[in-house]
Amino acid sequence: MEKTFLMVKPDGVQRNLIGEIVSRFERKGFQLVGAKLMHITPELAEKHYAEHKGKPFFNELISYITSGPVFAMVWQGENVIRAARKMMGATNPIDADPGTVRGDFALTVGKNIIHGSDSAESAKREISLFFQEEELVSYEKSF
Ligand code: CMP
Repeated sequence: MEKTFLMVKPDGVQRNLIGEIVSRFERKGFQLVGAKLMHITPELAEKHYAEHKGKPFFNELISYITSGPVFAMVWQGENVIRAARKMMGATNPIDADPGTVRGDFALTVGKNIIHGSDSAESAKREISLFFQEEELVSYEKSF
């Protein structure tokens, strides 16, 4: 079954949006198979955002994502990677449709509440950056 990596970013945690966001993915029908509240070290942040190194917003991005705890999660389900991206809304909240997480709760691209893997390759890479295999659970979803 397909898995993706989702993370409530520091602004989402501080605005008490963990429950709201988890609830949206639960109600959609996806299955939570891993989760933890954690601080991201600068080293992990640089690995996670390696593709953005050299961009003008990179330093700001690293200091924001390491500024407070994040809620890291692994979700499982059919087409969860694409579906989660749709449910999150466009990266820049100004372009995110109402009804999406960013469309409903975020104002600026620099503080956009949530991260989600953009492809199967990113999901695999990001899950292994944030979670050990034994931190993920496996259980039958019967309905
Ligand atoms: P995310 O989906 O976590 O992946 C990369 C992040 O870079 C993105 O969300 C934004 O938070 C951030 N980002 C992208 N473009 C900009 C920008 N122009 N200015 C500041 N942050 C940006």
